[in-house]
Amino acid sequence: MSDSERESGDQGAAEAAAWSGSEGARAFAALEAATDWLLGYPFVFRALARRRIGAGAVLVDYGCGPGKVAGHAARLLGARVVGVDTSPEMLALARASDTGAAEYHLVDGGRVAGLADGAADAVMCSHVLASLPDEEAVLAVFREVRRLLRPGGPFVLLATDPDRTGTEYASLRIGEAGAVHAPGQELTVRLRRTDGSWQEVRNHAWPVGLLPGLLERAGFRDVVQHRPTVAEAGEVADPALVGSRPWAAERERPPLVVTTAVAA
Ligand SMILES: C[S@@+](CC[C@H](N)C(=O)[O-])C[C@H]1O[C@@H](n2cnc3c(N)ncnc32)[C@H](O)[C@@H]1O
Repeated sequence: MSDSERESGDQGAAEAAAWSGSEGARAFAALEAATDWLLGYPFVFRALARRRIGAGAVLVDYGCGPGKVAGHAARLLGARVVGVDTSPEMLALARASDTGAAEYHLVDGGRVAGLADGAADAVMCSHVLASLPDEEAVLAVFREVRRLLRPGGPFVLLATDPDRTGTEYASLRIGEAGAVHAPGQELTVRLRRTDGSWQEVRNHAWPVGLLPGLLERAGFRDVVQHRPTVAEAGEVADPALVGSRPWAAERERPPLVVTTAVAA
């Protein structure tokens, strides 16, 4: 959200900042996410495949948004994907655009309605932490994910590193160059839309080094973090996307981190 939009009290822009409401859902669905499809989602899918999450497995996509990633995972892995989200509008978009590959449920009061303890063989969660304002909210999500997982089930978390400030990536820029953010502090992230224009959103900074401790407090063990590189993307991402541009910034300072943990 620009200063002028904030000052004018533009409701659509305010909703888009939190991806809530119908404006927010539509705004998120209009993003390109090229950097995520290069250095993020394919590595989440690979982490799940390496833990034998495939046909017959129940995979929850926690904070699934408009369902693009959930649908892709269902087709790629053959798992039964259950997308869950706090936004009814996001879920409506997901249901409308899905080809039946995944099913969708509301997160209400911090709990996924209709999913029993241990119902999931695996959980993935991409770019949800940035919406969470404080440590209690992060822990609440991790604890609900832990409730859903069977013991030993993997949790794969994709997040942007808030320390990678100021760099112009293909589809994002995080905050201002040189800025340092305390845990949970707000920062502005610019995200590229499919029409080439940019959307500004207010996110919360969650330093990736904090995540292992928070996961352990929520009942996870064996936390491993990996920062995917462009060289590795050649093995897992769409070859057309890999060859579509030089990815100079992504090569120099890869911005995404995949954190994998196991339900204790
Ligand atoms: C940036 S979008 C990411 C969507 C999807 N994971 C992706 O990567 O394309 C963040 C999503 O998380 C949802 N969300 C925010 N807080 C949540 C919470 N506490 N529990 C579940 N979903 C949440 C939002 O409604 C939104 O759909």
